[in-house]
Amino acid sequence: MRVTMKINELPTPCYVIDEGKLEDNLKILHDVEEKTGAKILLAQKCFSAFYEYPLISKYISGTTASGLYEAKLGYEEMHKENHVFSPAYRQQDMEEILNICDHVIINSRNQLLKYKDLVDKVNQSGNRKVSIGLRINPECSTQTDHAIYDPCAPGSRMGIRLSDFDDELADMVDGLHFHTLCEQNSDDLETTLKAVEEKFGKYLHKMKWLNMGGGHHITRDDYDVERLVRLVNHMKETYDLQIYLEPGEAVALNAGYLVTEVLDIVDNDIKTLVLDASASCHMPDVLEMPYRPPLKDSGEAGEKNYTYRLSSNTCLAGDVIGDYSFDYEIKIGDKLYFEDMAIYSMVKNNTFNGIPLPAIAAMDKDGNCRIIKEFGYEDFKGRLS
Ligand SMILES: Cc1ncc(COP(=O)(O)O)c(C=O)c1O
Repeated sequence: MRVTMKINELPTPCYVIDEGKLEDNLKILHDVEEKTGAKILLAQKCFSAFYEYPLISKYISGTTASGLYEAKLGYEEMHKENHVFSPAYRQQDMEEILNICDHVIINSRNQLLKYKDLVDKVNQSGNRKVSIGLRINPECSTQTDHAIYDPCAPGSRMGIRLSDFDDELADMVDGLHFHTLCEQNSDDLETTLKAVEEKFGKYLHKMKWLNMGGGHHITRDDYDVERLVRLVNHMKETYDLQIYLEPGEAVALNAGYLVTEVLDIVDNDIKTLVLDASASCHMPDVLEMPYRPPLKDSGEAGEKNYTYRLSSNTCLAGDVIGDYSFDYEIKIGDKLYFEDMAIYSMVKNNTFNGIPLPAIAAMDKDGNCRIIKEFGYEDFKGRLS
């Protein structure tokens, strides 16, 4: 039995997975599967805490991967349908992938021509059935907020455009895949599907399946699930397709925290809290996307009585999480709780500056936490030589 403790007793820094919230999300996703017959896959690039895969596997159909390593993780830990998409596969990776993946999605004509015979050979051997698909680019940008997450931007390497697609390609594959959304509602999916149908409709009639990628914020409060159900059913019925959705964020949205301790307070005209958690190391999307992570019991700068800049103990001057205000004065040794920290956090962190990786804890519905993974100096040294 692991020792249980409350969230404020955990060592810091520490990611905490909120299993109650995770299960609430999974129930919503399961309901979409039930109402549409679509299969929902966890995009492991977003959340790969495999300790929770037994729970996740109770509600959704499997995993998708960005390459060999994630594909192995899904195969070893989820034991359900296992898909992979990569902009380009290395030969040695593809050979292993074909032993463990059910769907392999390919990004270009070159890569399809390179690997088609290998896939056919595996299928002819009779030991395994691997379904092969192509990523298309419907050239339909529906968001301007996060340009780096727009695979439909001019010149994007992601997917084959209609002008480069033909019947010869269509006849070589079982399905099509698109991924164009990022934290979006089903109105943008509707716009995208119009473009997909208009451009690729004639090819869809030849396919067995359509994978609509990720970026569907299905478990967000304002998400229009009814419209999603309508859209999925429309595509399924019009083209006689098995539909797949592969959300990452929607699986673990708001289902995690990052607990950190205030190590120091520096007042150089701006009162700055120096934390043992870092944007650069532990929540890189804060700088990359960029965004301001929610923080428990806080407000915007100036909204509450005490405003601070939250920063970290790395050497990067710009390792700033944001300006936040509180009702009370913050003291050295206080703990702060960043929210929505399950997604794109553990999978993206690093040990820049030799900063320790946060431990990982799981919190049950009663608020009891158990540490499921701890990291140390060896994890820092182990990736160097
Ligand atoms: C091909 C593909 N599928 C699924 C996802 C998951 O997206 P999200 O976590 O936004 O739902 C991504 C994210 O980049 C992706 O590139």
